[in-house]
Amino acid sequence: MSVYLGLDASTQSLTAVLVEIDGPRRDLICQHTLNYDEALPAHGTRHGVLPGADPSVVVSPPLMWVEALDVMMATIVRAWPREMACLAAVAGSAQQHGSVYLNSCASRALAQLDAGTPLVDQLAGVFSRAVSPVWMDSSTTAECEEITAAVGGARALSMRTGSRAFERFTGPQIRRFFKIDPGAYAATWRIHLISSFLASLLAGADAPIDPGDGSGMDLMDLATSEWWPAALGSTAPGLREKLPSIAPSDTIVGRLAPYWRERYRLPAARVVIWSGDNPSSLIGAGLVREGRVAISLGTSDTMFGLMREPRVDASGTGHVFGAPTGEFMGLTCFENGSLARERVRDRHRMDWPAFSEALRSTPAGNGGAMMLPWFDPEITPHVAAPQVHRMGLDEANGPANVRAVIEAQMMAMANHSRWMGVHIDAIHATGGGSANREILQVMADVFNADVYQLASGNSACLGAALRAYHADRHADGKSVAWQDVVAGLAEPIAATRVRPIPAHVTVYADLRRRYAAFEESVAAPKEPSP
Ligand code: XUL
Repeated sequence: MSVYLGLDASTQSLTAVLVEIDGPRRDLICQHTLNYDEALPAHGTRHGVLPGADPSVVVSPPLMWVEALDVMMATIVRAWPREMACLAAVAGSAQQHGSVYLNSCASRALAQLDAGTPLVDQLAGVFSRAVSPVWMDSSTTAECEEITAAVGGARALSMRTGSRAFERFTGPQIRRFFKIDPGAYAATWRIHLISSFLASLLAGADAPIDPGDGSGMDLMDLATSEWWPAALGSTAPGLREKLPSIAPSDTIVGRLAPYWRERYRLPAARVVIWSGDNPSSLIGAGLVREGRVAISLGTSDTMFGLMREPRVDASGTGHVFGAPTGEFMGLTCFENGSLARERVRDRHRMDWPAFSEALRSTPAGNGGAMMLPWFDPEITPHVAAPQVHRMGLDEANGPANVRAVIEAQMMAMANHSRWMGVHIDAIHATGGGSANREILQVMADVFNADVYQLASGNSACLGAALRAYHADRHADGKSVAWQDVVAGLAEPIAATRVRPIPAHVTVYADLRRRYAAFEESVAAPKEPSP
């Protein structure tokens, strides 16, 4: 039996998926999640990030991810010893854009990990920056402007890298670190993404970055998958030497380091390069052909689909990333995802069944009442400070507010993803929120498209396990076509189809225009400079 492990280090938790693949037979052996706040309270996070006074600064402790990886490995080896003994390869996915800063002790520490001591006790001294900025950080507007000007404008940056400068992207984050703490920047030997950092822990050696996650940095030339010298030079001095290399998404980084083999009696399984959660989700949602899109309802809500050719967004709203297939993917990201849904749920003292009942008991279109649900700063459209606006909506009316937040999220997604130029007739829904079929009904009605659920709600983690399989077979000279990789595990389940209701579709065709006008009247959309 050949077993593949996929790991997903998301904003709030670490998840593991084990799959067994034997020719056409595929079994999802297990899925296990470790919530950072609950399982590792000593790190002091709330929703996976450190509480702070400035809502634009959002950071997490990198040691928490180190400890989470160790605890997760111990847990799954204890629960599935027979399967883990047959582990052929492991790959991972991580929240995109976040960066980890290592000092000159890191390389040696990684190579000499002692199997008798927990990882967290051995790696406390390897960071040149104690915290890692994550994708929710929006504190780098000045740095975005500086980088944009230095490379010749927003259009030049997005045509070359796939995105204009975004506050959460790693390049602007690195520049801010260089500006606020030049000494610590100078003492930094390596700047990893969260994905390449965790791959380095597994391999016990410095791992490269894949083009999927590399394209979320404003530093990579999308056409060549190499660092773009003009962007590096505009970001911080000496940056090239501090970055790992970029390598294809099927690269084998190495074998599991002796630490894992001795401590957990694991075989010398292949460690496959990690990627970002969205590129991994593309595979886990079965989107290996152009035409369909996925909507992931997680801490962030994202909408994405495969692109054969990179069609960069001239409006500056979306991104083109590398895809694990070696092609490209279009993506639009919304910061106010599950946390906004939870805020409304908690404010009206509901549980999830009551939330669903609120959707069932209120009319499509909410009688014209609308909400702009920017409980946190928003990425799309760009909203710098938290602000919630209501139109014709009584703040005390729980059911109406529930409908308003979901309709707002779906209408924003539909309006801001037009740049992808895909005719959408089917949506693959994934992420925690995709379990809620009342939310999916609003999705189907707003997009006028069929919506399907997938076998695994965590497509990022499943996608990582399937990437491990694909790279392992490729390394053995027995490549498997992507269509066959995803078959049977990462496909929409026909019986879960949610169909649009024609009368609701008519309501939303009109409401979407009114929502766009409401949004524009409040947000100052950030247009790229020429
Ligand atoms: C994508 C983005 C988020 C993170 C966290 O650009 O910022 O989706 O990957 O999930």
